[in-house]
Amino acid sequence: MKNKLNELIKSSIEAKKNSYSPYSKFKVGAAILTEKGNIFSGANVECASYSLTICAERVAAVKAISSGESIFKYIAIATNKKQIAFPCGACLQFLTEFSNDLKIILVKSEKEYKIFEMKDLLPKNFVL
Ligand code: THU
Repeated sequence: MKNKLNELIKSSIEAKKNSYSPYSKFKVGAAILTEKGNIFSGANVECASYSLTICAERVAAVKAISSGESIFKYIAIATNKKQIAFPCGACLQFLTEFSNDLKIILVKSEKEYKIFEMKDLLPKNFVL
């Protein structure tokens, strides 16, 4: 598991290289480890019409889901800033759709990261 998490963290750092963020210059990379043990990564993609921007977490999630994998165990998130960044509320809500007990790894570097539980970052999610 430790090796898999190291791989996941590296994937999130690698993914942020493909961030398209000419407006905010805030690069985000996310990598999801699915129940089947596969990794799907993504980066934030911005748009001149700002509100159409898609966060890295949701890009990674839709890649996994549209590849047939919709149960998530871990997500690692890396940015180009020195401090760790928490995922936005919209991404937390979106991710709760695909896991009850998701663990969120906020990455500073390959060796420096913190692991949080979804239930601590979003104690109550919207349900229909
Ligand atoms: N962003 C993410 O990719 N994930 C988040 O959880 C919050 C924000 C992106 C969106 C935008 O491209 C940039 O960060 C600044 O808001």
